[in-house]
Amino acid sequence: MKLAKKTIWITGSSGGIGLAMAQQAVREGAATVVLSGSNAEKLANAAALCRDIASQQSTPCKILCLRFDISKTDEINRAAEQYRQQLDHLDVLVHNAGVSQRTPMLNTTHAVERYLMEVNYWGAVTLTKLLLPKMLENQHCYIGVTSSVTGLFGVPLRTSYCAGKHALNGYFMALQAEYYQKGLRVTLLCPGKINTEISKSALMGDGTSLGIIEKGHEKGLSAKRCAAIFWSAAKRGRLICYAVRLEALAIWLHRLSPQLGSALIRKALPLREDALEQKAQEARERSHSRW
Ligand SMILES: NC(=O)c1ccc[n+]([C@@H]2O[C@H](COP(=O)([O-])OP(=O)(O)OC[C@H]3O[C@@H](n4cnc5c(N)ncnc54)[C@H](OP(=O)(O)O)[C@@H]3O)[C@@H](O)[C@H]2O)c1
Repeated sequence: MKLAKKTIWITGSSGGIGLAMAQQAVREGAATVVLSGSNAEKLANAAALCRDIASQQSTPCKILCLRFDISKTDEINRAAEQYRQQLDHLDVLVHNAGVSQRTPMLNTTHAVERYLMEVNYWGAVTLTKLLLPKMLENQHCYIGVTSSVTGLFGVPLRTSYCAGKHALNGYFMALQAEYYQKGLRVTLLCPGKINTEISKSALMGDGTSLGIIEKGHEKGLSAKRCAAIFWSAAKRGRLICYAVRLEALAIWLHRLSPQLGSALIRKALPLREDALEQKAQEARERSHSRW
């Protein structure tokens, strides 16, 4: 698969990894790149950055924005309809929108757990159902999915986030198995810590956002590098790829022995009740909430 001349829709591309994926697609000659997110201002900035790259290319690239909240089925339906009105086909769909979590299960309301599953899992399923029939009319079509290393094993303070990412892996692997003969190829991207704002929007148990970029993310791989790993794997038809540093050890150890892998994660991410309460209190004070 080449990105040149392709029509590509990337959800969660108003910033971070999704924007880096879009920028690379523009650089590599995609015909159309559709950007999505729920925040109009972020989306407009992302589109301006992509148009700037497009203006330096020898072949034209159309940049479109479809703003919608992926946790809401009616908004997903509306976005898919708007897509159909503006474009007649889709080569590559990348499910990248996501929200993380930073609280223990017993401190997390059911509403927050459901919201995390809506954004991280159901949104991708709903959009795929609406678009796949048309995509399969092409001889080849591609779905990218930004999962996570948390979709491979259990990481504390992220029960519903982990569940959503595990669900994505299972669903889209099975989907490829069903439609492989019809030309569908799936690539699951499993990043470790990437330097984006994901921790800023991560939800606390009451629906407030953490509101800060954690040090671990600041030191993580760049979004550009993560996007390059993804596109390289997708071009080669790889089912799964990893954008990791030290997390590689946990992946390897977990494969060798889930017992040892889990022990390593518990050791690397110890839980301290007092620190957790302080984190929750600070988040409430910052009160960055998308709800
Ligand atoms: N950064 C990491 O360390 C890391 C590690 C593993 C996996 N991931 C995954 O990578 C993906 C991209 O995250 P990122 O790191 O690039 O963080 P990010 O900068 O926070 O990007 C998240 C994207 O998802 C979109 N989004 C969130 N909620 C949405 C909603 N309700 N409706 C529509 N769009 C929504 C955001 O758009 P708006 O803000 O405009 O709504 C944004 O474009 C996510 O799936 C995340 O789980 C990240």
